[in-house]
Amino acid sequence: MEKKYYIVTYGCQMNVHESEKLAGILRSRGYTEAACEEGADIVVFNTCCIRENAENHAYGNIGALKKRKKADRGFLIAVGGCMTQQPGAAEKLRKKFPFVDIVFGTHNLEEFGALLDQKAGQKKAVVSIPEKEGPVREEDISYRTSYPNAWVNIMYGCNNFCSYCIVPYVRGRERSRAPEAVVSEAWKLLDEGYKEITLLGQNVNSYGNDAGGQCSFPQLLHKICEKEGKYRLRFMTSNPKDFGEELVEAIAAHEQVCKLIHLPVQAGSDRILRLMNRKYTAEEYLKKVEMLRRAVPGCQLSTDIMVGFPTETEEDFQATLDLVKAADFSAAFTFVYSRRSGTAAAAMEGQIPEEVQKERIMRLVELVNAQTREKSLSYRGKTVEILCEDYDEKKNLYLGRDEYGRMGYFASGRSRIGEFVKIKVSETSGVSLAGELITEEGE
Ligand code: SAH
Ligand code: SF4
Ligand code: F3S
Repeated sequence: MEKKYYIVTYGCQMNVHESEKLAGILRSRGYTEAACEEGADIVVFNTCCIRENAENHAYGNIGALKKRKKADRGFLIAVGGCMTQQPGAAEKLRKKFPFVDIVFGTHNLEEFGALLDQKAGQKKAVVSIPEKEGPVREEDISYRTSYPNAWVNIMYGCNNFCSYCIVPYVRGRERSRAPEAVVSEAWKLLDEGYKEITLLGQNVNSYGNDAGGQCSFPQLLHKICEKEGKYRLRFMTSNPKDFGEELVEAIAAHEQVCKLIHLPVQAGSDRILRLMNRKYTAEEYLKKVEMLRRAVPGCQLSTDIMVGFPTETEEDFQATLDLVKAADFSAAFTFVYSRRSGTAAAAMEGQIPEEVQKERIMRLVELVNAQTREKSLSYRGKTVEILCEDYDEKKNLYLGRDEYGRMGYFASGRSRIGEFVKIKVSETSGVSLAGELITEEGE
């Protein structure tokens, strides 16, 4: 009988993309995807450790499989990703869940197939967490799950060591893929009919620095956009400290580059930004925003913001609220600071009590939601172009996003997935739009 896999993914888009790589490895070994965990012969957890609750989720879900594992010895459980890559994490996991069969890290994800083969030949668990990252390995990604969107890694790792962040510890130093490899992967995807490509890196602005800087990130964007045709190009993430004129020019120059720029600010207080090791001030951030808005009229901004960083006072928090108002974000991902063992901030005095963090995040979310709602309202009656991505069975509606990442729902008599369509917006809710499809002539 054919074997089935189920992958549970936590964390960022990088992890979502890496789960596609894991799925490709499993499929090359004859596995097919199960509709749910219960129907799978192997469950793979691709974990995240950016915040404590991401780890708690994974722990809870792995623990829930204990009973099944006891009853069915042939059933396999594998755990990989950022959580397991932390020093000591594999041991902790093995102690808590001795029934886990395979433990792997971020640095050896490509070797998952070999670890699976090894497990087939032995009873005891396979645990393999390389301490250090290797050089970039060019892989042929055979399987993707997100048509018409596709992710393309342009670099791995991070050198920035923002004081709160675990990523540099679990993803290693920056390693850029060769520009030719990135361009050819992107063009191949477009030839295959993908309509939106998102370039991935923890700080895309330092792309190429490790390779002598022969091709910078803006140059990479120019190269990809040499390909003609209708498609969208996005990228994330851009660290404000390195966000410069050259990149703004590249954004402005190409119709294909979506005019929604994700520029995580984290905080509005210069003292906190300094403690975070972000290397910009609130004023510098806002100047960059101004430069972007001048050069790219109509562009929109999204961001990440954190509250409750060690020593954050009410005044510091107010500075964050002020910045949110001044920058006029279209969307913001908001987080409560989570202490990550091994980072510089974890050792700082003045950790903020949970009640204070909770009260601040509520105020921040309220402000952010109000701004998002207002932006949504301005869409009423307008015609927007949506790249249709999916069908919602419950609502019996197709859905997709506009250039600015806003979700739009509409009805259609046939599948529109993978098509650019225009809808006239009749309703708006907090973050999404609904409207009627404007049928093209001749249809
Ligand atoms: N490389 C990206 C961020 C990746 S992590 C960048 O530099 O912008 C995504 C977001 O998670 C961060 O922007 C930050 O807001 C949040 N984050 C990171 N570490 C965190 C922590 N310890 N606690 C809470 N949020 C955190
Ligand atoms: Fe973390 Fe900072 Fe690197 Fe982003 S740039 S991954 S926040 S260390
Ligand atoms: Fe992403 Fe989480 Fe790792 S945010 S890089 S999966 S720690």
